[in-house]
Amino acid sequence: MTISEVSVGTGSSARPANQGTTDPALRAWVKEIAAITQPADIVWCDGSIAEADHLTKLLVTEGKLIRLNPEWRPNSYLARTDPKDVARVEDRTFICSTYEEDAGPTNNWRDPKQMRAELREVFTGSMRGRTMYVVPFSMGPLGGPISQLGVEITDSPYVVLNMGIMTRMGDRVYRMIEDGDAWVRTVHSVGYELVDADGFPRDDLDWPCNDTKYIVQFPDSREVWSYGSGYGGNALLAKKCFALRIASVMARDEGWLAEHMLLIKITSPEGKSYHVAAAFPSACGKTNLAMLRPTIPGWKVETIGDDIAWLRPGSDGRLWAINPEAGFFGVAPGTGKSTNQTAVDTLWGNTIFTNVALRDDGDVWWEGLTDTPPAHLIDWQGKDWTPDSGRPAAHPNSRFTVSAAQCPSIADDWESTDGVPIDAILFGGRRATNVPLVAQARSWKHGVFMGATISSEKTAAAEGTVGELRRDPFAMLPFCGYNMADYWAHWVKMGRTLGTKAPQIFQVNWFRKGADGSFLWPGFGENARVLEWIVARIEGTVAGENTAVGVVPAEGELNLDGLELAPGATQQLFAVDKASWRAECDLTEEYFDQFNGRVPAALLAELASLRYHLKD
Ligand code: OXD
Ligand code: MN
Repeated sequence: MTISEVSVGTGSSARPANQGTTDPALRAWVKEIAAITQPADIVWCDGSIAEADHLTKLLVTEGKLIRLNPEWRPNSYLARTDPKDVARVEDRTFICSTYEEDAGPTNNWRDPKQMRAELREVFTGSMRGRTMYVVPFSMGPLGGPISQLGVEITDSPYVVLNMGIMTRMGDRVYRMIEDGDAWVRTVHSVGYELVDADGFPRDDLDWPCNDTKYIVQFPDSREVWSYGSGYGGNALLAKKCFALRIASVMARDEGWLAEHMLLIKITSPEGKSYHVAAAFPSACGKTNLAMLRPTIPGWKVETIGDDIAWLRPGSDGRLWAINPEAGFFGVAPGTGKSTNQTAVDTLWGNTIFTNVALRDDGDVWWEGLTDTPPAHLIDWQGKDWTPDSGRPAAHPNSRFTVSAAQCPSIADDWESTDGVPIDAILFGGRRATNVPLVAQARSWKHGVFMGATISSEKTAAAEGTVGELRRDPFAMLPFCGYNMADYWAHWVKMGRTLGTKAPQIFQVNWFRKGADGSFLWPGFGENARVLEWIVARIEGTVAGENTAVGVVPAEGELNLDGLELAPGATQQLFAVDKASWRAECDLTEEYFDQFNGRVPAALLAELASLRYHLKD
């Protein structure tokens, strides 16, 4: 079989095939993958607007994208997925390190040899009848000292379009690879070939995918292979697979950090700016903090990143960070005027929506966008919907893909090639009990302990016993590419490298509840008050109050001007119930036990110290 190489930039017949790159290793790898997957043709993507335009038209013609009414949502599109392909599949996500203990008890490990054999089987012929796209991309500004290159091979034009928004994608990356820059190999197939082994064709689906899915990381060779899903983190391999799972391993080996953290720039009324990185598990208001609108006068919060941060010590010894992504792949439901006006404003146009509802006027809608739903919609599955249908109109995990540059609160330094210097790191979870609104770590090691013990109470029976803790250390549980205990040890080591230049670490919790079950803190824009106290601690202008679990605001230090909290709320927000904390220490010890002696001594010492502080 011969495979033609075509160019799509200006229409395939309008110009000679774009050969992509002269780099022998990249060409050989593309050839090798094509020999396995057997596509009908190969496109070397150049990242041009003409290319994106061509692919968009192709998907619209094929019925795989719906063009939204340009009067309401210019240059925007809606994709509807297969109902069985709507989220990341953690139980089909594998870390294939040589040794099982290097993946650790919180990852699904598979023997790399056996996995390669399985992948070989499913990828053989998986692109028959389809076009194979070669997508070169940079994570972070091109050529920056913290940035990294990658290439994704995919048979999904939807993925190409999304990668074009989420990364710096295009020709210049080929040139950098030709100049010898390192790059990470990632391969993706939706797993729905259009021609069988005997050459018989079959019709395509609106959302091709396969019931069998594999999201596979090979940390030792720094490769990703993904099969069977076209959705989000399963298919946009630059995101969770590369920028977190593979990059966390690179970071361990090279002395930096790849983290599931948002990045913001805070400016005080005096005009001084601070940069903050913050790790939150999913569904803890991460995007809202990334786009916070402070309620307190004179304060400004600007966005640098909403999901991932790469952090590296700079030549000045401080920790510098970039957002490796170029776009947001955000959850739509719950994003609305009252919760996140900035996100709503970001989505005015040039957006790909996935699994939201379609309005009769050709615009989109999702739960929470407006208080009152439209009287009629087409739901995410293409069915008629009315407010009394008894089911959500948008899928709860429906998404928007949009360029970060379009965000009204984007910071002027968000694309700084050197990154931004980090002043503080925050760890947050969703805790109804125990964890105070804000507490500063006594030391870097205490901060690492806070990160390692991030958790949220289970809130629905479907998640297990209600009230039980769901652990999500550093919000990295599904994203750490190696043994979680070794990752904590790496964090401890980074503290030694940074020494006195290390950023301050804080734990925050917007979700503490009173005895009656209601939230004690209003959250959202009022969280700026907590940021104000954090800045005061960095500046050393407030003393704080030492408690067993860290330094909390002393009486009068937290700015509560104009805020009406329930009686006693302030005291309850910072109460340390020693008996309850001692019980939590026992749970932490149990949690640590599963790591078979690999938990760093520094964290065991922190646990012992916490117990000591909790003595009556
Ligand atoms: C995400 C996640 O989608 O963390 O960003 O689950
Ligand atoms: Mn995330």
